[in-house]
Amino acid sequence: MRITPSAGHLSGVSPDRNRWGLHYVALLCLLSSPVRTDDACPSSCSCARDSGTVTCLPGGGQTDLPADIPRWTSTLILKGRNISTLPQGAFTVNGTELEMVTLSLSYNGIQIIEPYAFLGLHRLHLLDLSHNQLEIISSRAFHGLSELRSLFLNYSFSPGATGQLSGALSAQSLRNLHRLELAGNKLKFIPIKRLDIYNLHALVLINNSIENLGRENISSFYQQRRIRVYLALNPFRCNCELEVFYYWLKNSSQCQDAERVICSEPEARRGIPVAKLRGEDVDCMNENLEAVSYVFLGIVLALIGVVFLMVLYLNRGGIKRWLNNIREACRDQMEVYHYRYEQDSDPRLANVAV
Ligand SMILES: *[C@@H]1O[C@H](CO)[C@@H](O)[C@H](O)[C@H]1NC(C)=O
Ligand SMILES: *[C@@H]1O[C@H](CO)[C@@H](O)[C@H](O)[C@H]1NC(C)=O
Ligand SMILES: *[C@@H]1O[C@H](CO)[C@@H](O)[C@H](O)[C@H]1NC(C)=O
Ligand SMILES: *[C@@H]1O[C@H](CO)[C@@H](O)[C@H](O)[C@H]1NC(C)=O
Ligand SMILES: *[C@@H]1O[C@H](CO)[C@@H](O)[C@H](O)[C@H]1NC(C)=O
Ligand SMILES: *[C@@H]1O[C@H](CO)[C@@H](O)[C@H](O)[C@H]1NC(C)=O
Repeated sequence: MRITPSAGHLSGVSPDRNRWGLHYVALLCLLSSPVRTDDACPSSCSCARDSGTVTCLPGGGQTDLPADIPRWTSTLILKGRNISTLPQGAFTVNGTELEMVTLSLSYNGIQIIEPYAFLGLHRLHLLDLSHNQLEIISSRAFHGLSELRSLFLNYSFSPGATGQLSGALSAQSLRNLHRLELAGNKLKFIPIKRLDIYNLHALVLINNSIENLGRENISSFYQQRRIRVYLALNPFRCNCELEVFYYWLKNSSQCQDAERVICSEPEARRGIPVAKLRGEDVDCMNENLEAVSYVFLGIVLALIGVVFLMVLYLNRGGIKRWLNNIREACRDQMEVYHYRYEQDSDPRLANVAV
């Protein structure tokens, strides 16, 4: 039975006379209830039965989730449909499971994912939720996705939803996850508590707001030897707190785009690849030593000043005497000069000289 979207349900009628009655009953059922058949293509979608692909783009006035996804669907692509909420069991058909392998829900303005939204999709390998505006994500949102290999969440949630996402990503069912993409979400830290619950090979954190990755995160990377991490376009703060990250970047080959991991602060190091820094640039001992040496210098100078003042104070009698002596010596000298002056300015002597 091949059904084209435009032909609708009526094309389900076979010319086979022997089975006419059966089909007639089925047809009646179809017409009397809104329940779909296995083969119908949802309205406003296009179906390629051979590849098992159903594509639903906006148009035809249909903007929500299609109610009647064919059971043979292996790839479902929904785009630009203004689906604000993914409710529980959004993709189950009358409570039965679908064999769907790929589900692409990018650019649908999804804001809320309710618990068990992907119920029944046990075979799902790839879920793309990129380019949505997720605000509320249930901690049981990804429940049941035990075969999921790739989860794309690029440009898909507001900073306020990061904590909820972290809860949702802790689902034990995600144990087969190989690839997690979280690009462009203004993340300041990795919204994953533990890496060992997955089987991750790729973690994409490109174009976020990560300034540093601490010891805890780096040691989880070292433990998950297979994992490859992508970190370009993050505003790394290249001070000595970056030390652990710096050595991980240089020593392990786990960061696949290390040459594009760039310092954005401090001003003096802006634009420099983190891996091109020198060891002493990120050495807190070095930085602390420098600070300590300045303090030490200050203390020494202050001590010298104090000692000098003390010496002056203790010798104040002697100094007074010494000053008096000087004054007297000066006075004597002055008197001598005065005398000489008077001698020199004697007019008689001047005349003799002339
Ligand atoms: C999307 O749906 C919401 C209500 O569900 C509506 O307010 C909004 O205008 C819709 N947006 C578009 C672009 O259709
Ligand atoms: C849907 O489920 C109900 C109850 O589980 C059942 O009676 C009905 O026949 C089902 N319809 C289809 C089309 O499978
Ligand atoms: C984001 O997700 C899409 C899938 O929609 C993928 O093709 C793309 O490579 C991902 N990564 C980035 C950095 O955008
Ligand atoms: C990075 O993400 C922001 C939004 O967070 C976006 O506006 C910008 O275009 C992205 N940059 C690149 C190079 O993808
Ligand atoms: C990464 O670091 C953040 C912040 O320190 C922490 O909350 C998170 O649990 C860490 N995750 C991993 C996998 O190490
Ligand atoms: C990284 O390598 C440098 C020398 O290349 C070494 O001094 C440092 O201890 C190593 N760090 C780690 C964490 O392996």
